[in-house]
Amino acid sequence: MTVAQPAKAMDRVLTLELVRVTERAAVAAAMVRGRGDEKLADQAAVDAMRTELNRLDIKGRVVIGEGERDEAPMLYIGEEVGSGNGPEVDIALDPLEGTTICAKNLPNSLAVIAITHRGGLLNAPDVYMDKIAIGPGYPEGLIDLDMPPQEAISRLAKAKDVRPRDISACILDRPRHAKLIEAVRATGASIRLIGDGDVAGIIHTTAPDDTGIDIYLGTGGAPEGVLAAAALRCIGGQMCGRLIIDSDEKRARSERMGISDPNRVYRTEDMASGDVLFAATGVTDGNLLQGVSFNQGIATTHTIVTRSYTGTQRWVLAKHRLSGGKFGFID
Ligand code: FBP
Repeated sequence: MTVAQPAKAMDRVLTLELVRVTERAAVAAAMVRGRGDEKLADQAAVDAMRTELNRLDIKGRVVIGEGERDEAPMLYIGEEVGSGNGPEVDIALDPLEGTTICAKNLPNSLAVIAITHRGGLLNAPDVYMDKIAIGPGYPEGLIDLDMPPQEAISRLAKAKDVRPRDISACILDRPRHAKLIEAVRATGASIRLIGDGDVAGIIHTTAPDDTGIDIYLGTGGAPEGVLAAAALRCIGGQMCGRLIIDSDEKRARSERMGISDPNRVYRTEDMASGDVLFAATGVTDGNLLQGVSFNQGIATTHTIVTRSYTGTQRWVLAKHRLSGGKFGFID
């Protein structure tokens, strides 16, 4: 029986093809992880991801990428990628999310990508975004950015039928979060302070039993916010984000990218709509995905790949025979 697909359904083969894209970026970054060299690791991941992406039969356009054209030679915003044959898609990517954690070989750096139809991703400028996110299974609108963090914790605890002290929040360890941290701790909830990597931090809310994280709060990069929203669209969960546009320069840049209301609160669907495909491969070990391991010429990778239309999550463990070539793979 043929299942009717929505007009904007993506080719499902593409879902599996995405695994190769994040795997290669992750392996390339992992080859130089722990060397204290963020640029080297990032460059390796960018190079590998771009090469693999250009093999896909898509007419792809990078919407969330390595930066503006003048600051990023590869995978810049607006770059056309793919073979040019196939569906027109928009792409959000981060070949190495958590460059510092990769350089220090600390947990939770990832290679990530999301794809959807043209116009389906928020063209977020490279500014900060206020974010709040929880995993699946809660009533829509349970939390939002305009409620005090104490209220978000208490509503979540009630919905989960636990005490606030049983809730665990994830927050980036930054001086700008001092008040937020104080407010959350005052509820009795515990906090996992992370050094970097809020895409992983937000994805962790989707599996609290495995990660120990129920809620993500705080300010991080807006591009990372869109990637995290794409992940939640597929895996489940809800997120709100508001761009922080606090200078004329950022206002002008945002307007150029089509942002007309700088105070708008974006919900998950507003940041990533349509049939979204999402893949992430662990670079360093993490709570949800193990990092790349190398042994006797074999690289082992762990990837989650998922699609909003079906909600299917695939956890792909792959063993790659390395060749010693540029990206280590046999092509
Ligand atoms: P990079 O991978 O670009 O280094 O970003 C890491 C990250 O921690 C993101 O996950 C997060 O959204 C952002 O940086 C936070 O920015 P800042 O370090 O300026 O607080």
